Amino acid sequence: MDLRSHLEDLIPEQQERLKKLKKEHGNVQLGNITVDMVIGGMRGMTGLLWETSLLDPDEGIRFRGLSIPECQKVLPAAFPEGEPLPEGLLWLLLTGKVPTKDQVNALSKDLRTRASVPDHVYKAINALPETAHPMTQFTTGVMALQVQSEFQKAYEKGISKAKFWEPTYEDALNLIAQVPVVAAFVYRRIYKGGQVIPADDSLDYGANFSHMLGFDSKKMQELMRLYVTIHTDHEGGNVSAHTAHLVASALSDPYLSFAAALNGLAGPLHGLANQEVLLWIKNVVEECGENITTDQLKDYVWKTLNSGKVVPGFGHGVLRKTDPRYTCQREFALKHLPEDPLFQLVSKLYEVVPPILTELGKVKNPWPNVDAHSGVLLNHFGLTEARYYTVLFGVSRSIGICSQLIWDRALGLPLERPKSATMELLENQCKKATLTSKA
Ligand SMILES: CC(C)(COP(=O)(O)OP(=O)(O)OC[C@H]1O[C@@H](n2cnc3c(N)ncnc32)[C@H](O)[C@@H]1OP(=O)(O)O)[C@@H](O)C(=O)NCCC(=O)NCCS
Repeated sequence: MDLRSHLEDLIPEQQERLKKLKKEHGNVQLGNITVDMVIGGMRGMTGLLWETSLLDPDEGIRFRGLSIPECQKVLPAAFPEGEPLPEGLLWLLLTGKVPTKDQVNALSKDLRTRASVPDHVYKAINALPETAHPMTQFTTGVMALQVQSEFQKAYEKGISKAKFWEPTYEDALNLIAQVPVVAAFVYRRIYKGGQVIPADDSLDYGANFSHMLGFDSKKMQELMRLYVTIHTDHEGGNVSAHTAHLVASALSDPYLSFAAALNGLAGPLHGLANQEVLLWIKNVVEECGENITTDQLKDYVWKTLNSGKVVPGFGHGVLRKTDPRYTCQREFALKHLPEDPLFQLVSKLYEVVPPILTELGKVKNPWPNVDAHSGVLLNHFGLTEARYYTVLFGVSRSIGICSQLIWDRALGLPLERPKSATMELLENQCKKATLTSKA
């Protein structure tokens, strides 16, 4: 059975499950909302339904219940003991089930047949100056892809709500298939004189993306499979996922929703941090040399903090331990590039930064996140252009975001519309609360 048929089977039972939850337990409380939460970017406030993954502050991400090491164990790979194929993760996110190698191969093939990008997309990107940030060029490409939206066409024709998920599925898979092509075009345009490399239909999703970028070594292909797999999804509250979910709740199609998500991903506190990390590391080397001592490194970290900047790649809105996405990249580096000087610097930062951030006293999580590591791996295999890194993150995130958007429509989730408050309203509430506690 193909992926779409699997979903057709799954959807009615999940619709029933949600209906029952709402009917029988709709009034159950999930916690109290405090003034801190309202002012503090809704930290710790459970407010979204997101099926594809769940983040535990200590354990890190689980994709449909599976941790990253478990995914590395059970998801099909290109060869025995290899890194998981991102297509397998897409299957897992959508269905909650681990696919067979045959199912993954069929999905790979399906994605390849959907990967043709219309010419106007390239024209739209080419209308921008080459100096435009890669994320701006990428998002422009995604917006240009939107003209082919099946959902938009179906909605204009008056499709019934019960069928919303079907054109959403088509848009989602087309989008996932096409973003690597658009992303590779942006890379080749900016850094390789516009010499585009056509897709190789014999390759899987990750290897083909690496190939279109211009990197054909087996290790880089493996890195790309791992990279795309681990960046796909990080539950629903992060800026890019939440943005897509919000925009899609207005029944904006997957292209519109994903383009909005990319604009959030392009912020330095979110996806752009991977760019910032490598630039920061390269500045360290430029200023202090590759054989930097621990004391010099400590001084550099303090200099960054004292100039009012954050140390990129450290900290997290939810995580309170080292990000397992960091750990698996570290393991990849230990296996494939243990002698790389920048990897050794990253390892040193792992020792130096957390105690300093702890000493600051206000940082809730001093440990490294996913972005602290990805740059040095890419840099090692020749993808040295740090400004491009967030585009890679964006390609991967299409898989998580689009999977959930299909479920948003299948479950008939409503328009997202939280209540906001003014400072005056909060002050009045606080006065009332004080009076009640004194009474
Ligand atoms: C990810 C991040 C935005 C989370 O923000 P958050 O949930 O508000 O984090 P905290 O609650 O720990 O923040 C409390 C304080 O510590 C600071 N802080 C957090 N991480 C920090 C870091 N890596 N370097 C310096 N200061 C940091 C915050 O800026 C905040 O300072 P403020 O009160 O003066 O505004 C934050 O850790 C950060 O800016 N990290 C660096 C950028 C990065 O790596 N982003 C990618 C995340 S996957």
